Amino acid sequence: MASTSALGLKDPSLVRTQAYIGGKWVDAKEGGTIKVTNPATEEELGTIPEMGLAETKEAIEAAATAFKTWSKTTAKHRHDILKKFFGLMQEHQDDLARLITLENGKPLAEAKGEHAYSASFIEWFAEEAVRTYGETIPSPFPNIRNVVIKQPIGVVSILTPWNFPSAMITRKLGAALAAGCTAVIKPPAETPFSALALVELATRAGVPPGVINVVTTQANISEVGREMCENVAVKKVSFTGSTPVAKMLYGLAAGTLKKVSIEAGGNAPFIVFDDADIDAAVAGAIICKFRGTGQTCVCANRIYVQSSVYADFASRLAEKVAAFKVGNGLDKDTTHGPLIHDRAVEKVERHVEDALAKGAQLVHGGKRLPGAGSFFAPTVLADVPADALVNAEETFGPLAALTRFETEEEVLRLANATSVGLAGYFFSRDVGRVWRVAEALEVGMVGTNTGVISQAVIPFGGIKESGLGREGGHGIEEYMNTKYIAFGL
Ligand code: SIN
Repeated sequence: MASTSALGLKDPSLVRTQAYIGGKWVDAKEGGTIKVTNPATEEELGTIPEMGLAETKEAIEAAATAFKTWSKTTAKHRHDILKKFFGLMQEHQDDLARLITLENGKPLAEAKGEHAYSASFIEWFAEEAVRTYGETIPSPFPNIRNVVIKQPIGVVSILTPWNFPSAMITRKLGAALAAGCTAVIKPPAETPFSALALVELATRAGVPPGVINVVTTQANISEVGREMCENVAVKKVSFTGSTPVAKMLYGLAAGTLKKVSIEAGGNAPFIVFDDADIDAAVAGAIICKFRGTGQTCVCANRIYVQSSVYADFASRLAEKVAAFKVGNGLDKDTTHGPLIHDRAVEKVERHVEDALAKGAQLVHGGKRLPGAGSFFAPTVLADVPADALVNAEETFGPLAALTRFETEEEVLRLANATSVGLAGYFFSRDVGRVWRVAEALEVGMVGTNTGVISQAVIPFGGIKESGLGREGGHGIEEYMNTKYIAFGL
């Protein structure tokens, strides 16, 4: 095992191998641990505690106690602490990016990008904290004055995925802290070190004991997740992950009518019309499809290309994909890293085999790569039929599945023929079409003539079975209650 001190950080004290409850770094009561491995090398990076129900209850209790004082702090106080936290994240950006690469596998340049995205949520919500305005509403009655105030909702359960080990924590935690809420976080067992390092920096910034708590688990995930959704002291659940898990957690939270934010799976359509700038469309597809080696909820999953530009687009896309350098994210030449684990590789394999069996053409890649680590060759398939698995469910891997279409009406029908609706993309230079298609796509977020939509300032979220609520942007609202007060004169 590579000892945690060998992770090569400039500040080794950022590598935390214990969970954090009530202001203390703690082991599991029963002493169990979980191994965390580097998906590029399969080497062990270190261990974290395998916690269960008892620790989860303790963490919720600590958060409930801390809420009594944190919720009473001024917005300016919380702004100042979050600004300091942001400053510390910037100071330690090399270490934080390295941790992301080690545990998630994404190349260092991309990990630095995630770090910047992650820190931008803390900066954004620091500035949102001081703008949680209420309002006054003119009353129809002469002896009444109406006032509306915003109040923090309470203890928040935060459950995050491994594809953005840092940014999915700060997108939720930043909003929660800014609003005056306290939190219990369950980071993914695959990538806990980024979350724990962030908590270490938050405490250095002055976040008081009990305001942030972290429970780590893998084998006990069901009981921990259940408690985080059912405990009456928890007033809100925020989850990013798959749609099936989202539905289960939503059901658990329904028992106490908790407020819920869900960012679940996508199956993003990416459409190239014949009036598009093809170079821009290829560049957009490369970043949109292969960011995080295809492991983002907003990745293009179904690529529809109009007949007359189909062959040109396919060959230019394949040429760019052939130039990728797949490998360990710490190697400076690497452009694309591994998948998170073998199950992820198997899913891509299944989608490729299914599409080929149904008549798709292999243009590039198509198989897992030999040796250590969970690598799959970046793949381009052409003429993927409508009934292929890849059209029905998101691959979450480096597979660009191309389908030819003839008309705008046909492609909109294909694009919307899915139960989910997170992001959608299209390329066209016809301004009328841009408006029509942007309005017609059944998704929460649209990229027109761009493959990159993610920013801290936007309302991030989906429709249909892709989720509930919006994060980033005005997402602080999701962590506050609106209270109306009538003043009799
Ligand atoms: C996700 O994959 O869940 C988030 C993607 C993003 O924020 O860009």
